[in-house]
Amino acid sequence: MPTKAALAHIPGPPALPLVGHTFAIARDSYGTQAEYIRRYGEVYKTNMLGVWRVNLCGADALERVLLDRTGLFSSEGGWDALARIYPGGLLLQDFEHHRANRRIMQAAFRAEAIRDYRLRMTGAMTELLDRWPDGEAFCFYKAIKALTLRLGGAVFMGLPLDGPLAQQVNRAIQDEIRASITPIRQAIPFTPMWRGVRGRDFLREAFRKLIPERRAHGGDDFFSRMCAATDENGQGWDEDQILDQFNLLIMAAHDTTATSLSVMIEALASHPEWQDRLAQEVASLGDRPLDEDALGQMRQTNNVFREALRLVPPVPFIPRRATRDFDWQGYRIPAGTSLSLNPGVTMLSETYFTNPTAFDPDRFAPDRAEDQRHKFAWSPFGGGAHKCIGMHFATLQVKLFVATLLRSRRVRLAGARPEWQRMPIPKPKGGLQVILDRI
Ligand code: HEM
Repeated sequence: MPTKAALAHIPGPPALPLVGHTFAIARDSYGTQAEYIRRYGEVYKTNMLGVWRVNLCGADALERVLLDRTGLFSSEGGWDALARIYPGGLLLQDFEHHRANRRIMQAAFRAEAIRDYRLRMTGAMTELLDRWPDGEAFCFYKAIKALTLRLGGAVFMGLPLDGPLAQQVNRAIQDEIRASITPIRQAIPFTPMWRGVRGRDFLREAFRKLIPERRAHGGDDFFSRMCAATDENGQGWDEDQILDQFNLLIMAAHDTTATSLSVMIEALASHPEWQDRLAQEVASLGDRPLDEDALGQMRQTNNVFREALRLVPPVPFIPRRATRDFDWQGYRIPAGTSLSLNPGVTMLSETYFTNPTAFDPDRFAPDRAEDQRHKFAWSPFGGGAHKCIGMHFATLQVKLFVATLLRSRRVRLAGARPEWQRMPIPKPKGGLQVILDRI
C-alpha cells in the first residue's frame, strides 16, 4: 500500500496523528466530504484508521472505475476489511475468477427462481406483518430488521419462520455484520470481531450439514438453488464455495433492504400525500395476487423506493484498490492505492438533481428523468461487473412489503422525524417510532 509520501502530490485536509480524519468523517460523513470536495476538488486524500485513501468523487469517477475492463481496479483489495468474515464471496473476488463465480450465482437469480422466492415471501410477509401492533408506538427500524431476518430464514434458507435454527442463524448473522464494521479488527475474546468469527463458524457448520439433503432433494429457497447452481457448462460449487458465497449473500441482502424500507416508511409517514398516492396505487390492484404483473404496475412505489435509495443509500461508498498506476483528473495515482467512490454524495449533488435534499419521487417520472442526466447520477446499486446481483429481488421485496402493509394499514410517526446516521451503516438515530392504524 502506498505511503503518505507516495501520495504527497494529492491534495487533502491536514490529518490528526494516528486517527487521521476518522472522527470528522464518522461525525458527519456527507457534510465533511462536501466540504473537502469544495476545498480540494473531486480528487483528495483522507486517512481512516491509519489507512490512506484517495477519494474519487462524482459520477464520472464512478463510471471510469466501475466500468473499467482492464483489471485496473480490485474489489477484493477494496473490500479487504470484509475478508475475515466473508472470505471468498463475490465482492471479495476479481476479474475472470469473479466472472466465473458470478455466472454460477446467476442461476439462483433466474426468473423461475425469483417467482418461487416471491411466492414464499408473500405468505411469510403477511404472517409476520399481522404480528405488528395496531394503534401503539413501536420502533420500525428494529421491527423491520427482525422481519427481514425472519423472512430471510424462510426465503434464503428454507427454514420455518419461528424454528430454533432460524433464531440461532439470525443471531450469528447479526454478529457477523457487527464484526464487519468494528474498528477493532483483532478477534480478542468478547469483542465484536470475536463474536463475528464465532458467528461465521457457526453458520458454516450449520449450513454444511444441510448441503447433502438440499443437493439430493432441491428446494425453492436461495440456499437450495445455490447448492444446485451451475454455469452454462455445468460447472457448480464445492461445499466450501457454497458456504462462502451464501454467507456474503445474506449479509449483502439484509441490512440494505431493512434500511431502505425504513427510509421509505419515514417518508410515507412524513408525506401523507405520498402515502395516499401509494395506497391508491395498491388499491387499484384490487384483491389480485401480488404476482410479477401486479408488482410491475407499482410505478409510484418504485419511484418512492428509488428516491429513498438516493437520499439514504445503504451503500454510500464503494471501495476499490488500484492494481497499477493510473491517471485521473491530472493526478498520477500509484498502484496499491485504496480508492473510495462516493455514490452517496454524488446522488445529493446539484449537478445531477434539482433541489437534491428534497423528497421528490416525481423526479424519476419519465417527463423529468433526472437520473438520466448521467449514467451514474443515480447509482445505489453500483455498476459494472460487481453491480448488485440482488437489485430486482430487493425491488420485489420492497414492493411486496408496501402492498401488503397498505392493503390493511396506514402509518404515522410517533414523535419527531429521526436524523439519519450515515456511517458505518446508515440507520435512523434513536430508531424510528411509528404507529400503524388499521383501515
Ligand atoms: C436496497 C437493497 C440493496 C442495495 C442498495 C444494494 C447495493 C449493492 C451495491 C452498491 C453493490 C456493489 C458493491 C461494489 O461494487 O463494491 C452490491 C453488490 C451485491 N449485492 Fe446488493 N444491494 C441491495 C440488496 C441486495 C440483495 C437483496 C441481495 C441478495 C439477494 C444482494 C446481493 C448482493 C451481492 C451478492 C453483491 C456482490 C455482487 C458481486 O460482487 O458481483 N444485494 N449491492
